[in-house]
Amino acid sequence: MVKRTIVALPGDGIGAIVLEQAVRVLNAAGFDAEYEYGDIGWEFWKKEGNPLPQRTIDLIEKHKIALFGAITSKPNDEAKAELDPSLQGKGFSYSSPIVGLRQYFNLDICVRPCKSYKGNPLNFIRRGKGNTIEEPPVDVVIFRQNTECLYSGVEWTNPPENVYKALLSHPKFRENFGNVPVDELSVSTRIFTRKATTRILMAAFDYAKKYGYKSVTLCEKPNVIRETSGLMWKLAKEIQKNSFPEIRLLNTNIDAQMMWLTKNPEDYGVIVAGNMFGDIASDGFAGLIGGLGFACSAQFSERGVAVFEPTHGSAPKYAGFKESIVNPIAMIESACMMLDYLGEKKICANIRRAIAEVIEEGKVKTYDMMKMQGKPEVIQNGAASTVRMTDEIIAKLKK
Ligand code: NAI
Ligand code: MG
Repeated sequence: MVKRTIVALPGDGIGAIVLEQAVRVLNAAGFDAEYEYGDIGWEFWKKEGNPLPQRTIDLIEKHKIALFGAITSKPNDEAKAELDPSLQGKGFSYSSPIVGLRQYFNLDICVRPCKSYKGNPLNFIRRGKGNTIEEPPVDVVIFRQNTECLYSGVEWTNPPENVYKALLSHPKFRENFGNVPVDELSVSTRIFTRKATTRILMAAFDYAKKYGYKSVTLCEKPNVIRETSGLMWKLAKEIQKNSFPEIRLLNTNIDAQMMWLTKNPEDYGVIVAGNMFGDIASDGFAGLIGGLGFACSAQFSERGVAVFEPTHGSAPKYAGFKESIVNPIAMIESACMMLDYLGEKKICANIRRAIAEVIEEGKVKTYDMMKMQGKPEVIQNGAASTVRMTDEIIAKLKK
């Protein structure tokens, strides 16, 4: 059989460190694949004026599947100042390569599972009846529309005349903003399309069905944002009625959902939302299960490209440590999502069980799990290094 090829995109800072650990675990668990490393991130911006070179896009196009660490983004003036002198003043302008990847491959479906591990000292606890302490098990999977909404970049400050005229044609705009000088206006548009909205809803329902979740919760705000959230709610009801009558459809507003987060997080299963509210909801739920050291994600496109990555960034302040201290679990979990996608059930279950055992046993913990401040000394003070945590997970794999 031809070996599978995975495009490995280390990126910047701790991205490269955690990616290497995930590959170690995949190899140790017997996942049979080759890795082709792709260039992405700050180094390539500085050297070439492009943090996402065409050769990297071609590589992903060829193999359709990538494991990605994290990249560093900086504001445009800083970015320009760090460009190689030979490239300065030549019109290069920085834009985030991860956003670039999402747009280029139209990775419109983002999946972010937030499942608590038993024994994780970072698990959310709350007060129960009679002043008891409860630790509700959280098992939520957030489906975030990844390409539209407020993140589409269709926005203006001091909008051009044709845009301003169009805005004026709306009675609410005339009434509430008609007297504001145009150069004092900033407008960001919230665009939802029927196609992309249907795709994220279908993905959420399919997943709920496949993995036995009883409900899908639409987390938007259709009572106020009537056109975009309203479209999503209408389509959700149709899809549920026509294709998934056995799954309950719930409707929560993002603001209320954030309050219920700490009241009854165990009551939610699959949550689906547009880009902005999906981003908020997934960070909120990630906080209940241990935060960025545990938050993994997958992104899919209609034409079969899939990218798996931890939610965290490149954490530059920890990137230069002689011995890395960051938690590799978010990245290893992202690799597990890749195994799920490839149908490698046994290998995936083996890795997840190994992670669960390490956490439940509680002997090996990274600094975040010990609630320490991230400094090199944490290792002398009993925290496990990134490599040590990975070694422990590997040691728990069943041969
Ligand atoms: P960050 O996620 O890199 O780090 C924030 C803080 O979270 C860290 O200082 C650390 O305390 C903690 N943290 C992150 N990963 C951890 C891990 N694996 N284990 C333990 N603790 C961890 O976010 P920040 O500092 O806002 O951004 C740093 C850079 O990363 C920026 O340039 C930003 O643009 C970029 N970024 C890239 C992302 C991506 O590649 N998808 C996503 C988010 C930020
Ligand atoms: Mg975010």
